[in-house]
Amino acid sequence: MPAPGPRFSLIVPTFNERENVAVLVRRLDAALAGISWEVIFVDDDSPDGTAELVRALSQRDARVRILHRIQRRGLSSACIEGMLASAAPFLGVMDGDLQHDETKLPEMLYRLEREALDLVIGSRYAPGGSLGDWPASRKFMSRAATRLSRWVLRADLRDPMSGFFLVRRDYFQAVVHRLSGIGFKLLVDLFASATRPPRFAEVPYTFRPRRAGASKLDGLVAWEYLMLLLDKRFGRYVPVRFIPFALIGGLGVGVHLSVLWLLFQWAGQPFVRAQTGATLAAMTANFLLNNLFTYRDLRLRGWALLRGWFSFSLACSVGAVANVGIATYLFESRFLGDWGWMLSATAGILVGAVWNYAVTSVYTWKRPKDRC
Ligand code: GDD
Ligand code: MN
Repeated sequence: MPAPGPRFSLIVPTFNERENVAVLVRRLDAALAGISWEVIFVDDDSPDGTAELVRALSQRDARVRILHRIQRRGLSSACIEGMLASAAPFLGVMDGDLQHDETKLPEMLYRLEREALDLVIGSRYAPGGSLGDWPASRKFMSRAATRLSRWVLRADLRDPMSGFFLVRRDYFQAVVHRLSGIGFKLLVDLFASATRPPRFAEVPYTFRPRRAGASKLDGLVAWEYLMLLLDKRFGRYVPVRFIPFALIGGLGVGVHLSVLWLLFQWAGQPFVRAQTGATLAAMTANFLLNNLFTYRDLRLRGWALLRGWFSFSLACSVGAVANVGIATYLFESRFLGDWGWMLSATAGILVGAVWNYAVTSVYTWKRPKDRC
């Protein structure tokens, strides 16, 4: 006799949570008694062997599943792929480090099912909920990020930063193609990608301190959050990575002029040599900064870094030729009147930037699927 699939799938993203997963499964077993459930751990190839441990747990307990991703990072994308690997009509997301209160799950699931809601959110800011004892700096960050989210959310949600929530399958499938999948904040993405105002409720809970392992939240998570907001706001018009790419390109001009000054004015090098050095320095700085920020999720390391630098420099050299060629053509055609020199230069820079972006996004930072 075939056994039916579970009604509730809990997706747990993990990166180096070896100390926590077995405890979590035990707590879920207790909290979800009487409910047909499964848990899908989505592990990004944690060096501490979290995936291996989950496989061992899964061999003993069929409710435990693993999605092991290689050469990938990202909390949101992990959760999205976990949901896509499940067939359950009700989905949930919870951290793997025991900071979310699993005893709230039955109440949350009950409300999702019975009140015909799209989402039920575990909320630290709803009356009765709490941040626990967070340092003042992180409290401030969380509140600032919450305020910023109003820019893209069209809902009055108290805790949009929550990583602890349930979502109905229909709602998820309706928005999944519109999700950005950037960074840590899937809930913001789920709300901002809505085609109609979502029906939701918030259930208060207290955020627990981390027991084992370390938080992955760092400055770059804040950056990714900004990218998510930009993508939700402008993603329809420009690829979101073009924005940091262009900003970093602007910084590159500063690097170029500083190095040029250093070599030409200060070290007394011939102009050609100084200009060549400055170009190389600016390209290298741009490459490294883009690798660090724009393409954080596809970051190149080791030999790939060297190969990436080479292809980036090659692409940008061609971009520079296109830039100068187009600017010169426009300038010499004299269509553009008094400000012709400036407009020509701007057009050249724009074409060069778009070229550099397009080529390096394909050849320098390859998406994982292109690597196979
Ligand atoms: N698969 C995968 N890939 N999992 C990840 C990654 C990743 O790149 N980065 C972090 N995780 C996992 C962690 O192992 C943990 O289970 C969970 O995602 C949350 O990461 P933490 O590093 O513990 O984040 P936090 O405690 O600072 O913040 C969390 O709690 C907030 C409050 O609810 C996050 O879930 C936030 O989204 C949430 O708002
Ligand atoms: Mn945590």
